[in-house]
Amino acid sequence: MNSHSAVTAPPGPDDLQYIQYGPEKEAKYLGAIRDLIAKDLSEPYSIYVYRYFLYQWGDLCYMTANAAGELIGVVVCKLETHRGGPLRGYIAMLAVQKEHRGKGIATKLVCMAIDAMIAKDADEIALETEIDNIASIKLYERLGFLRTKRLHRYYLNGNTAFRLVLYLKEGTALKPTAPLYADDQMAAQYM
Ligand SMILES: CC(C)(COP(=O)(O)OP(=O)(O)OC[C@H]1O[C@@H](n2cnc3c(N)ncnc32)[C@H](O)[C@@H]1OP(=O)(O)O)[C@@H](O)C(=O)NCCC(=O)NCCS
Repeated sequence: MNSHSAVTAPPGPDDLQYIQYGPEKEAKYLGAIRDLIAKDLSEPYSIYVYRYFLYQWGDLCYMTANAAGELIGVVVCKLETHRGGPLRGYIAMLAVQKEHRGKGIATKLVCMAIDAMIAKDADEIALETEIDNIASIKLYERLGFLRTKRLHRYYLNGNTAFRLVLYLKEGTALKPTAPLYADDQMAAQYM
């Protein structure tokens, strides 16, 4: 049973529609999703990264489009067990077109993704964001995310990240996870 109740998304501008991704939407939206994210995120994601998320967790991807069907915003997520411990949702990518920012669109997309993960019984939701990304940090902290780690030079561009986590159930932060072995040491800082 989730102790974190569903979040209430703000209304957002009227002429925009919020759409859940699905395989039948690939032809129309996959290219636009890549273009929108490539414009703003520092990591150069290949098509395989998008397919990895969208083929397995397309139902955790939400998009905003205008009346003409043009993509305005997107959030891409996944949900899986974290090292044998909690069921962890992960927000992998979030972007809103520059001219549409500051109107609550990202907040609404993130709230929809959080609600979908709560419905699938997630224990927690995690993400990383660059330590100087004020808009992103503000957005997530207002929704209850906490800074749990500082990941030195986490991104390929050398920038440092915060790991932010939203705990959805009582006691999740104390749940044991599998130990890390020598081969995992390099990856450990990312977990
Ligand atoms: C981060 C991002 C998705 C926010 O989108 P958005 O639709 O403008 O977000 P919202 O309108 O829901 O605003 C969220 C909060 O951030 C604040 N905010 C937005 N832009 C801001 C800025 N440039 N500086 C400070 N705060 C800002 C808003 O004021 C709001 O907080 P408030 O309601 O307390 O005032 C958008 O700026 C973006 O696409 N950035 C580039 C990609 C990126 O950084 N993604 C996140 C990677 S983890």
